[in-house]
Amino acid sequence: ADYDKGGYAHYLHREIRDQVEVVQRTLSGRLDLRFSTAHLGGLNLAPRDLLNTRRIKILGCGSAYYAGMAGAHMIEGLARLPVSAEPAAEFRYRNPVVEPETLYIVASQSGETFDTLAALREIRRKGGFVLGIVNSVGSTIAREVDGGIYMHAGPEVSVASTKAYTSMLTVFSLLALMLGRLRDVSPQRGSTLVAALQELPDKVGETLALEDSIAAIAPTLIKAHSAFFLGRTASYPVALEGAQKLKEISYIHAEAYPASELKHGPLALISSTTPCIVLLPDDELLTKSLTSLEEIRTRGAPIISLTDSNHPRIHELSDQLITLPAVSTLLQPIVAGIALQLLAYHCALLLERDIDQPRNLAKSVTVE
Ligand code: G6P
Repeated sequence: ADYDKGGYAHYLHREIRDQVEVVQRTLSGRLDLRFSTAHLGGLNLAPRDLLNTRRIKILGCGSAYYAGMAGAHMIEGLARLPVSAEPAAEFRYRNPVVEPETLYIVASQSGETFDTLAALREIRRKGGFVLGIVNSVGSTIAREVDGGIYMHAGPEVSVASTKAYTSMLTVFSLLALMLGRLRDVSPQRGSTLVAALQELPDKVGETLALEDSIAAIAPTLIKAHSAFFLGRTASYPVALEGAQKLKEISYIHAEAYPASELKHGPLALISSTTPCIVLLPDDELLTKSLTSLEEIRTRGAPIISLTDSNHPRIHELSDQLITLPAVSTLLQPIVAGIALQLLAYHCALLLERDIDQPRNLAKSVTVE
């Protein structure tokens, strides 16, 4: 086959390491330097239709759902429209209200996930307009949507999604930029964002270069029976996907929480045996997150921090630190997500798990 493990022991490792090229392909030809926006050719929507859009609903399953949650933050932040994500199966079974001024988006790597397809069909039957964010060209979902954006991530073989998830987030960032430039984003801010997107492949490369230091954290993490992943606002979906990756391939139990919710429940479980992986982007919530870090520290939990800030308190409070490359706030979830993929991979590797084929899981869930 023309697609093999490329010298790596696992497809998953190759797919993580391939992400510089993946992001390049997803961005290719889509940055419009003249108008400081993104050019997305297959939407099948006129700017007028987009202006009339009042809200956006994103649907998907598994990692595509988590990518949709992250995408919702990106779009809402730049386009100033209410955006939410929901698991496709939950949506389709609750007799959803479909509105003409809502833009529906279904996200799927394979384009064949049964529940995502069923949600798409239900929305279209009710007269809604659906965009697809799909990797597999010519798949069922790609054929049935009203318009869409192909990810161009290339084939993904490993059951757990890595490069397709990153590619989905890249597509959402392009869509956020484009919708932002129709509404709330100035040409100046637009050109800053375009420049940030142009640099993204390099930033992905810098994140992959952290692999050895991330691998060095795995020996402590695999001793735990349970771990917490914490992040606020746009980092909460990153925490969810990070926990998902660890569960799927290492079988270590993990839970994700917004750090703000700690005191409403999970703090009862935090002890020296529950490592906490904390996402600390250098944004306006950093000082609030530092308070959570102190609460965790007081209970003696090992702290693994991921940050692009050099705030001295982070160093003081963390047992282990992953220093991420500085990127635009919009793109922070992309680099943080890749670091968490590497962390999950190295835990699974030490535990000698069946990394490409985790027990009980399938790559594409084409039945209910
Ligand atoms: C399965 C895979 C996940 C994937 C999900 C949705 O559960 O194991 O990795 O995120 O399906 O797949 P899709 O092809 O729709 O993105």
